[in-house]
Amino acid sequence: MRLAFFLALTVAATFAAPNTNLFLEDTTQDDYIISGVTANYIQAYLICKRNGFIMAMERTEEETKIIEEKIKNLNNTGHAHYLGGVNEITELGKQWLWIDSNQSITYDHWSDTDEKKLDCLLKSSLDDDDHGNGKWTSNNCAEEKYFICQKAVTSTQIL
Ligand SMILES: *[C@@H]1O[C@H](CO)[C@@H](O)[C@H](O)[C@H]1NC(C)=O
Ligand SMILES: *[C@@H]1O[C@H](CO)[C@@H](O)[C@H](O)[C@H]1NC(C)=O
Repeated sequence: MRLAFFLALTVAATFAAPNTNLFLEDTTQDDYIISGVTANYIQAYLICKRNGFIMAMERTEEETKIIEEKIKNLNNTGHAHYLGGVNEITELGKQWLWIDSNQSITYDHWSDTDEKKLDCLLKSSLDDDDHGNGKWTSNNCAEEKYFICQKAVTSTQIL
């Protein structure tokens, strides 16, 4: 179903060295899990999926608070992170959607300076004053970044 999106990606397969921790913490602990490796968007998506997670959604101020608390607790404030947002080709033209639920992205946490022209949603570093400290920017999906997964939620939470 997400073929159109994936076909648009340049997949440069550069898998992490053996014994690398894919995540910064025990994955049974929390709803949101931060990667310990960088990956391009398709790799990030697959790593979340194969470990039983989806790409994280940030849909409310409450979710922003939870995600940012997590980034701070894991001392990852110096890094930007991919979330589950993609600028996807649909029947209605390109639209920003949460990749796992296909919900359109209505919560606005975009950086004032971003034109939303690229295809993958990157949450800027909390230390990045130029992009609103954790506000979203659109990024080239082929770039390798840290990323955030979340526990697969029930269909009612998704809808
Ligand atoms: C984060 O940094 C603080 C202060 O240096 C340290 O006490 C804490 O253990 C660190 N947390 C992790 C998860 O590394
Ligand atoms: C996903 O959502 C978009 C936008 O609402 C819609 O055009 C598309 O048909 C949906 N795709 C699926 C598989 O539901």
